[in-house]
Amino acid sequence: MPDILKYDVLVIGSLNADLVVRTVHFPRPGETISGDDLQIIPGGKGANQAVAAARQGASVAMVGRVGKDGFGPFLLNSLKSDSVDIANISTDESATGTAMIVVDSSGQNSIVLSAGANGKVTSKDIDALKIKAKVLLLQLEIPLETVIHAAKWGRQNGMIVILNPAPARELPDELLLSADYILPNETELSLLTGLPVRDVLSAEQAAKALLNRGAKNVIVTLGNKGALFVSNKQVSQVNAYPVEVVDTTAAGDAFIGGFASFLVEALKSDSELPDVLLLAPALQIKAVKYANACGALATTMFGAQPSLPTKEEVEKFLS
Ligand code: RIB
Repeated sequence: MPDILKYDVLVIGSLNADLVVRTVHFPRPGETISGDDLQIIPGGKGANQAVAAARQGASVAMVGRVGKDGFGPFLLNSLKSDSVDIANISTDESATGTAMIVVDSSGQNSIVLSAGANGKVTSKDIDALKIKAKVLLLQLEIPLETVIHAAKWGRQNGMIVILNPAPARELPDELLLSADYILPNETELSLLTGLPVRDVLSAEQAAKALLNRGAKNVIVTLGNKGALFVSNKQVSQVNAYPVEVVDTTAAGDAFIGGFASFLVEALKSDSELPDVLLLAPALQIKAVKYANACGALATTMFGAQPSLPTKEEVEKFLS
């Protein structure tokens, strides 16, 4: 039997080729508009979060699928160049996942996904893994039943399970219960709970509705209002860093990679796999502040993976 490999962060999720066009405004239904030249950029929430954590110094492995087309090697090379272990990313007959992205002049985006090979990641892929990690990162661009299986598997194996419920959808309580941290943005939180989320107060109320359903810690990213940490022990708002926004794509992924790597760094002295209950509230807020800086920096550059900051860049920004 092969040896178990140990990583700081394991990502089970999606890889997408982002087909990005910049326009002045989003097209209305039936409208044709012109944009800048098409850019093909490595993306996918899973792969972005893997790169985001790796650039913060974490050792990272990723599980996923790409297709046999040219986008597959393009995405794998991007991960490899950031030292993400790609041994558990397999190649499928389907097309590689793609994301059609329009970025408007204010830096906001609108995205249409075509799952392709991401839709073929199965629970069997997880059962076959010979990997341990301190933190497991999950999103919703692979089949939901695989995400649920992965979350339970991560918990059983002593990992801190972080769920980014994106793209937004309703979720079963069993998944909420299996995650240590749930990190939605305002839109995702609203869809997840069926409650309006317009400001910090309504975000807190919706986050508490998730706690009532079994979630342990909810961290809501609020764009230029920062982030809100809500658990049964505390509610804390962390302010946003003022930056000049170029493109918000992957800002949430930068936040999550930064949060995960900060926790890993804090737990480095522990020889055993971490227990999330050992994490002091103050430490978690520090992690949110650091993650906020990662997210802010990502908005200052165009594209998904090219915009994810390194540890040095974040430290310089914070100092
Ligand atoms: O979070 C940003 C990502 O969402 C993009 O890279 C795109 O691939 C979509 O998955």
